[in-house]
Amino acid sequence: MSNDPNYRSVTCQASPNIALIKYWGKRNDEFILPDNDSLSITLDLNDLYSYTTVSTSSSMTSDTFYFDGIQQTKLSGRMQKVLNEVRRRSNKDNQIKFVEIRSHNTFPESTGLASSASAYASLAIALTNLFNLDNPQSTAAYLARIGSGSAVRSVYGGFVRWSSEGECLSSCIYPVDHWSELRIIILIFNSSKKPVSSTDAMQRTRETSTLFQARLSTINEKIEKLIEAIKIKDFNTFAEIVMKDSSQFHAVCMDTYPPVIYLNEQSKHLIDLVHAYNRMDGNKIMKVAYTFDAGPNPFCFIRQEHVEEFLRLLKYFYPTTNDDVHGEVSDVKEEFSSIKLPIMANAVERIVRTKIGSGPKIIP
Ligand code: PMV
Repeated sequence: MSNDPNYRSVTCQASPNIALIKYWGKRNDEFILPDNDSLSITLDLNDLYSYTTVSTSSSMTSDTFYFDGIQQTKLSGRMQKVLNEVRRRSNKDNQIKFVEIRSHNTFPESTGLASSASAYASLAIALTNLFNLDNPQSTAAYLARIGSGSAVRSVYGGFVRWSSEGECLSSCIYPVDHWSELRIIILIFNSSKKPVSSTDAMQRTRETSTLFQARLSTINEKIEKLIEAIKIKDFNTFAEIVMKDSSQFHAVCMDTYPPVIYLNEQSKHLIDLVHAYNRMDGNKIMKVAYTFDAGPNPFCFIRQEHVEEFLRLLKYFYPTTNDDVHGEVSDVKEEFSSIKLPIMANAVERIVRTKIGSGPKIIP
């Protein structure tokens, strides 16, 4: 392929984002226009990412897609939609014929870890660069969005807002270093595929949930309060808004008919554990906040100064026979004995420690 003078290739790395205020509901399925604004944190590229290489040459005779090195029999409808939009936007002398896409993730798919967000963000940015498309940032955001809604937020680093109005694109509201002591600890309780896809579940929610409208009417006020808390780094307010939005989102899923249930026994245990842990100091300072996407695995937000203690708490309540899960964390005895919750042995498959990231990167 490298002998072909028309061969060109671009690689991009992007990470997932974790919604602090969830997107749930599409008012337009084709263009993925959301019912509500959402707010997220993009994770650090050093810990979790999708890596996508796109290439083109005059000798290619069809679009091809390799995932983890294995050629897929066909491209998904969404991937095809993204490529068609790229073809529509690329000008005459840069006419694209076919594209080869090679992608891999460093984390399990379909676990509520938003692997589609990082995958489509990296694909969108790589394609925008490969074909020199106009207005690269907004074009990449648009392409990412029509691939997978929440991917629009992974196009930027730091704290990102996805607007439900106007062009419905995303923007960075605070950069990566704004709140540098914030850390994210992800507990993987279960890495199997989610029972209902977010696309199907959202549609079912729109059709059947009465709580859904009530949720929509409070979102903007909640986002403004959260942005203010982030601005002044007020972790107590941040934690309360984030946890309440997670619970409200899952309440709406429960209010959907038939109900959509993403949380499991371990998720509920973690929720109780976080509240009990925060109460240990009389609730004056919140140490941890959790949020759950469309899956049972919690994303915990915490300031750096509390990380070691929280990891000891996790080791105490989630002991495991797999030494890799807790790594170097020291053993605990009496420290958390005031918390009267059951010990859940072998509940955790993996713990990922990460932080806010600066956004996608083109790999030379
Ligand atoms: O972009 P999708 O279709 O994977 O939907 C994501 C929905 C949530 O993860 C539950 C919330 C969000 O805003 O990311």
